[in-house]
Amino acid sequence: MSQPANLAPIPLVDLQTQSRALKEEVLRRMGDVMDGARYILGQEVQEFEELFAAYCGTDHCIGMANGTEAIHMALRALDIGPGDEVITAGNSFAATAFAIAHAGANAVFVDIDPADFNIDVSQIENAITDKTKAIIPVHLFGQPARMREILAIARRHGLRVIEDAAQAHGAELEGQRCGSFGDIGCFSFYPGKNLGAFGDGGATVTNDPKLAEKLRLLRNYGQRVKNRHDLLAFNSRLDTIQACVLLAKMKHIENWTEQRRTVAQWYREDLADTNVLLPQEHDDVRHVYHLFVIRTPHREPLMAALAEKGIAAGIHYPNPLCTAQPFEDSPTIPMGLPVCKLAADEIVSLPMYPEMTRDQVSRVADAVAAFVTQPKECASELV
Ligand SMILES: Cc1ncc(COP(=O)(O)O)c(C=O)c1O
Repeated sequence: MSQPANLAPIPLVDLQTQSRALKEEVLRRMGDVMDGARYILGQEVQEFEELFAAYCGTDHCIGMANGTEAIHMALRALDIGPGDEVITAGNSFAATAFAIAHAGANAVFVDIDPADFNIDVSQIENAITDKTKAIIPVHLFGQPARMREILAIARRHGLRVIEDAAQAHGAELEGQRCGSFGDIGCFSFYPGKNLGAFGDGGATVTNDPKLAEKLRLLRNYGQRVKNRHDLLAFNSRLDTIQACVLLAKMKHIENWTEQRRTVAQWYREDLADTNVLLPQEHDDVRHVYHLFVIRTPHREPLMAALAEKGIAAGIHYPNPLCTAQPFEDSPTIPMGLPVCKLAADEIVSLPMYPEMTRDQVSRVADAVAAFVTQPKECASELV
């Protein structure tokens, strides 16, 4: 990637700045864990679970090994498995569908709404069969899915709802936090997430005490007490060391979220007069901008033009889930997934992290604007 001599590159995400600021506290907490050798389900895990449940507005939080396992354990807790169908959005990170497959169920993919990249609620009922057991909406890129409509459909058809909130820590719909709408909410603390560990981590949240108890058993070999195994279960625990990192970060999550929202606002101001499609934010939500995703039919040359200027960009995600080899035979609704396919060809994620400065955003926006406003012949030549 060549770049102008005097300008530092702009990464897609910056994990170092946050880590540097938290290093002292995290190392102190980790030192305590080492001194007590409480590596597995130490008190820091419980402390974090209490804090995160309160943050989500739920009664319970159960730490998990990662976000994929959080969804997998949620399905197991709801007794969803072989022969069952689970409806989810056709575009997400592969983990959503992998977790369904790990539980032994079949993923059924529904197209997305072009307005917000989330599951198109008007098409969910077309996908329901007598095998359908649950819906897993994904709050993609940090924008809540239309949960009121999804919960109403679930109620009408007697379905469970598991939220994939891996990208939506602190996101809100009508003032209510993501993760707290359905039977179980699932989070990832993968390092690049809005709340990220220094390795893998995840959590489930719920208001149902029975489900909470089952999730605790499922993640820890079915043990209420050591060496008594009350159900066939898994090793899917959140590490104490990762809980130390998450505890240190929880103090800053609200601040970081507001900074992300400010960065998004700067992008909107700077890109308003260009013809790239900006992400729409519904009036009744708090979008937490895990990613800032624009759309253009000239995606590849745009990304090359940004790279020339030292600006990283990403694609989340380049292929609809139903095209992944493990899901080639999964059912989709009769209309197929035309919006997923279109989005997969045109979406570009611009740099987004809380520490981005006004200047950095302007540099990215100028580079995008310079590309999309060049004479048409020139742009199509590049395509
Ligand atoms: C939407 C979505 N679901 C699930 C996951 C899985 O989380 P993890 O990587 O922690 O397993 C991720 C992130 O990687 C994600 O973005």
